[in-house]
Amino acid sequence: MLTGSSKLTTKVLVVGSGGREHALLQTLQRTSKLPLSLFSAPGNGGISQLATCVPIPANDILALLRFARAENIDLTIVGPEGPLADGIVDEFEGSGLKIIGPSRAAARLEASKSFAKDFMQRHEIPTAPYAVANSAGEAVAALRSGKFGPPESAVVVKADGLAAGKGVVVARSHDEAERAVVELLSGSLVAPQAAQHLVIEAALAGREVSVLLFADGRDYVLMPAARDHKRIGENDTGPNTGGMGAITDAKLIDSETLNRIVRDIVVPTLEGAVAEGFPFRGILFIGLMLTATGPQVLEYNVRFGDPETQAVLVRLQTDLWRIFQAMITGKLGDIDVDWSEQASACVVLASGGYPGAYETGVVISGLERLAASDSLQVFHAGTEKSRNGDFVTSGGRVLGVTSTGTTLVEALRTCYEAIGEVNWKGMQYRRDIGRFSESHEW
Ligand code: AMP
Ligand code: GLY
Repeated sequence: MLTGSSKLTTKVLVVGSGGREHALLQTLQRTSKLPLSLFSAPGNGGISQLATCVPIPANDILALLRFARAENIDLTIVGPEGPLADGIVDEFEGSGLKIIGPSRAAARLEASKSFAKDFMQRHEIPTAPYAVANSAGEAVAALRSGKFGPPESAVVVKADGLAAGKGVVVARSHDEAERAVVELLSGSLVAPQAAQHLVIEAALAGREVSVLLFADGRDYVLMPAARDHKRIGENDTGPNTGGMGAITDAKLIDSETLNRIVRDIVVPTLEGAVAEGFPFRGILFIGLMLTATGPQVLEYNVRFGDPETQAVLVRLQTDLWRIFQAMITGKLGDIDVDWSEQASACVVLASGGYPGAYETGVVISGLERLAASDSLQVFHAGTEKSRNGDFVTSGGRVLGVTSTGTTLVEALRTCYEAIGEVNWKGMQYRRDIGRFSESHEW
């Protein structure tokens, strides 16, 4: 007779509803040797094809906890930053449940940019010179102090708190920066609680790259370096978005630079977290600028990136469930994690109007023509299944067409050929994913 404890499958819950979460679930299913029973809260139309979607919002920590307890979930993985900053990991662990993500204390590395900058300063981690301001007056005084060069130099103004990518203004002059200060504090760009403090920092020039890693509080495993495209328009024009595409490619970082990133940034960050009493267990995503004088940290995120995750995980060869288990048991140092020796690309298909207002409920055609294969995956971000079984749009970013190839050019070709099969009214995407206008000249 089966009892409650002798379950046949291992139950995994992924919190979130985007392409990142679809990629996590699909990779668990693809790589795991164990029979996994997959759940997602709240999930999306595409996710519902491989997991049971539970209608609990990602930020409703208590409802998620009740569900995980009632359903005997063996492991929860958290996609978005909001619940991490709100302490979902502390709540779950306090109830004896296993969960992948940093504690609330460690999540401050993303949830407060001033905390992150002060942390980097304490641990001598290379990052742009900065000042923290608690009012418009303090911000203007910092800008006029001379610390950020002459008035015509570029400077970056950042809201301290979580702002879904809308809290950073790269200003081309101090005048523009002063206007950004007023705008950020007015509440028109970001919620007022995100802009209680501002970080002003020098603008860095160079090539941006993202390094993600798995960490168990002591050891870490790097993922392939990635690069994303944040702007809506081709040639990096127009407003910022959640991310319109991402690539991985061995050519992104040479081994000498990577060694330097590990020595000067990754190790001091993880050791600094231990020294300050919040050992980092979870996914750390370090946004870097490769400047003429070496790599510098732009930001920390304490979670998988979206759409970087889609481009990174299609190359994973090792059982993702085993990696998560090793993170939970502090044995990450004991396992080998393998990645295919390929390049990869994820091209995001978005609703017309995004990142501004857009229509939803639009029927997507052609998806059935795209059979997933070893080299092609279509991850859903903003889709729902309608009553008659069609996929319809339900968000700004709708699909992430993702592929691998021997070269980046080949991966991109596979993506764009597949995109030719899909359509809906208003669909937009960038045709220049993987082509970067190098080195911003401020
Ligand atoms: P963050 O959320 O802090 O990574 O900022 C979002 C984006 O703003 C980054 O991906 C960069 O493109 C840009 N950015 C942030 N800080 C700087 C900086 N100090 N210099 C130049 N660009 C920056
Ligand atoms: N693609 C950037 C992020 O996930 O924050």
